[in-house]
This record gives sequence, C-alpha cells and structure tokens, in this order.
Amino acid sequence: MDIRAYNRSAWDREVARGNTWTQPVNQEVTQAAQRGIWSVLLTPTRPVPRAWFPDLRGLDLLGLACGGGQQGPVFAAAGANVTVLDNSPAQLAQDRLVAQRDGLDMRLVEGDMANLSQFVDESFDLIFHPVSNIFVPAVRPVWLEAFRVLRPGGALLAGFVNPVQYIFDYEAMETQGLLNVHHSIPYSDLTSLDPEQRQRYLDAGHPLEFGHTLEDQIGGQLEAGFLLSGIYEDLDPSSPLCKYISTFIATRAIKPVVEI
Ligand SMILES: C[S@@+](CC[C@H](N)C(=O)[O-])C[C@H]1O[C@@H](n2cnc3c(N)ncnc32)[C@H](O)[C@@H]1O
Repeated sequence: MDIRAYNRSAWDREVARGNTWTQPVNQEVTQAAQRGIWSVLLTPTRPVPRAWFPDLRGLDLLGLACGGGQQGPVFAAAGANVTVLDNSPAQLAQDRLVAQRDGLDMRLVEGDMANLSQFVDESFDLIFHPVSNIFVPAVRPVWLEAFRVLRPGGALLAGFVNPVQYIFDYEAMETQGLLNVHHSIPYSDLTSLDPEQRQRYLDAGHPLEFGHTLEDQIGGQLEAGFLLSGIYEDLDPSSPLCKYISTFIATRAIKPVVEI
C-alpha cells in the first residue's frame, strides 16, 4: 500500500470532518501574535514553553508536517519567515486561508516529512514538528532530514506519542474505555491489527498510524546528531489512559555548532 497517498486522502477527509487538528486559528489570534502575544501546541494541551523559542523576528522557520492553519500563521504573524510542509493539500489550504484572510506571507509546500529534498542543507533556523510522525512507518529518516536542513545552532521542537498508547486494543478502549493489552511495539495499523479489525479501521477512513519505539523517537534524534535540551510530557484528557500516564512527549533538540 502507498501509505503516503492513503494518508493524504485520509487527512483531506479529516479536514472535511472538522478534526480539531485541522481547524485554523481566528484573526484575533494572529492579531495578538503581531503584538507579541502568542502560544502554540506541539502536543494536545500544554503550551510550548516560550523559553524554547528564540526571537522569531526574521527567523527562517519550517513547520514540519504542520498544516491546518494553527501554528504556521501564528509564527508568521510574530515575524518569522514561515514555510509549512505537509502531505495534505486540504491541510495546507487551511494555512492559505488564514494567510490570505490576515495578510500573512507564508510558503506552503506539499511534501513528505521523511524526504525534504526540496530544501537545501542548512535552510532553517527552527523546525517545529507537532505530533505527526505517527503517520509515517519509519521515523529515523525524519530526524536525519530535519538535521540536514537545520542550520548549526538551530533547534528542532518535536511532539510525539509515547508508544504505550498503542499496546491496547483501540476498539475496546474507544467504545468501552477498557485498557486491554493487545499489541507489541513497534505498532502498525497495517500489521498489528487482525484482518477484520484492520478492515473496519480502513473502512472508517482514519489515517494510518504507527507506534514508534522511544529508542527511535529519542535515540533517533540523538543518532541524527541532535543534542536534547528540553523535554516535557502531556496528555490527552479524552483518553482513558490519561488517569495513569501522560502519553505525549515534547522535546527540544539543538543541532550543535560543532558536530560531536
Ligand atoms: C495531527 S496533524 C498535525 C498538524 C497540526 N497543526 C497540529 O498542531 O498538530 C498531522 C499532520 O501530519 C500530516 N502528515 C501525515 N503524513 C505526512 C507525511 N508523510 N509528510 C508530511 N505530513 C504528513 C497530515 O497531513 C496532518 O496535517
């Protein structure tokens, strides 16, 4: 199966369905950002600490798999030179809508987070990568490409899912709130579900998801050459798991000026 093509259509459908992560910011938000008042999310609920950002004015910023008109327009309004790369034309259209409505300049690129060949080495000062690598089967290529296109001294801010979220039977969890341990990690909607369950999942038209190991998520960043400089956890208040563990992680990683 062509996972990227499948997920492109699936995310276009999510826009039509009004998924929370496809709903663009309103004009008050970008107007406040123009006055320096803003906050953004990498994970469901906890705002990214402002100390994780340098001064955005004049900064070359890549929103990586960051369509939906949520963070890109805020960064543009706050003065960054923003490029948003996303696999879904409908998600990019949300950014375009805000940019046109609020008079913001943004570059919108349809592409794959695991292949940033549109960008030359050391093109960006900051990469903002909200929870989205669950939609690619391998995450290490994403870290390698992010490292390549970032300038030395630049930062990668990433949100991702703690894979413990994927060990449970998702139907029992969603319909009855039951936490039945069922899957091993790494998890894949394509190979971990039994055939009937996988068919029900595909029939519902959801994007395909992959539960990566923490070694791939955190170790993969370190192996790409990054140095971790910050980490926090977050939760999804609608998940029955949130009583027990925070299942989202955000990291701040630096591309060292001198490679170590
Ligand atoms: C949960 S949304 C993230 C965007 C949102 N603004 C946020 O705050 O989280 C996940 C995004 O990943 C994108 N995506 C999925 N697979 C992708 C891929 N292979 N390359 C680039 N973007 C991808 C989707 O189109 C979608 O816009």
